[in-house]
Amino acid sequence: MEFRQRHLLGIEPLAPREITAVLDRAQDYAEAARRGQKHGDALEGLTQVNMFFEASTRTQASFEIAGKRLGADVMSMAMQTSSLSKGETLIDTATTINAMRPDLLVVRHPHSGAVNLLAEKVECAVLNAGDGRHEHPTQALLDALTIRRAKGRLHRLTVAICGDIAHSRVARSNLILLGKMENRVRLVGPPTLMPPGVAELGVEVTDDMEAGLQGADVVMMLRLQRERMDGAFIPSEREYYHRFGLDAEKLAHAAPDAIVMHPGPMNRGVEIDGTIADDLTRSVIREQVEMGVAVRMAAMDLLVAARREP
Ligand code: NCD
Repeated sequence: MEFRQRHLLGIEPLAPREITAVLDRAQDYAEAARRGQKHGDALEGLTQVNMFFEASTRTQASFEIAGKRLGADVMSMAMQTSSLSKGETLIDTATTINAMRPDLLVVRHPHSGAVNLLAEKVECAVLNAGDGRHEHPTQALLDALTIRRAKGRLHRLTVAICGDIAHSRVARSNLILLGKMENRVRLVGPPTLMPPGVAELGVEVTDDMEAGLQGADVVMMLRLQRERMDGAFIPSEREYYHRFGLDAEKLAHAAPDAIVMHPGPMNRGVEIDGTIADDLTRSVIREQVEMGVAVRMAAMDLLVAARREP
């Protein structure tokens, strides 16, 4: 068994061979789905509960579809209307859910560390679907699979991650993963949107798009995470677009065959020009969504299998 985790809480605890194991399994699921074979039985008879304490469209749908394709009974709880709003603590909610004996728990939460805490209180496998600005491991894995498919490898690539780095769990999980697989990561954005001490993580940091994109194989754009900002981090959206929005002129500094990525949701005309987002010769944004289902199938399959090992 290459994959030995009990939970998927972040990229941080994963060994490179475990990352590769998830991507290889996901690649098989993605190819099978393209051949019209969408269903498997890896989660047959198991119960998957999705608890999203924060809004989500693609991640929640993707986990739901992934579980159903592998035969699980999938239940998505509407956490905004749950007993949490009646004052129940996260731990009480976890204990309640645990008593229903789920096999997989998929959790998104606005607070960094909340999913790790929850994982300590339940017996089943927990998958982090994004916690605050901490980690979003399945997003980084689906990004990695998309890159590997487009570039034929997942090492010695130059990847520019651009925009609101400070508030982004997507950026954090991605830079950890890309670093583990020996790629060169550049973070590009205004100093107000860079987390403090980020240069110590072995990445290059710049507030100049032209320099940051120079020769990049992959250009990953991020949304301004306004819900996590307290105060003004940028002068105006117009000025932000002018300096940091991805348009044809800025993209021309990247490698001629550079791919453009975005985890979604996208704000056209703020961090990315709509024409580039829709240009299928450069943009792999739709493929990212497709790989999302395959990666979540693989992650749940491998977690369940690892727990069955003696
Ligand atoms: C991201 C998230 O929720 O962290 N979206 C996603 O999962 N596809 C990024 C974002 O919200 O901007």
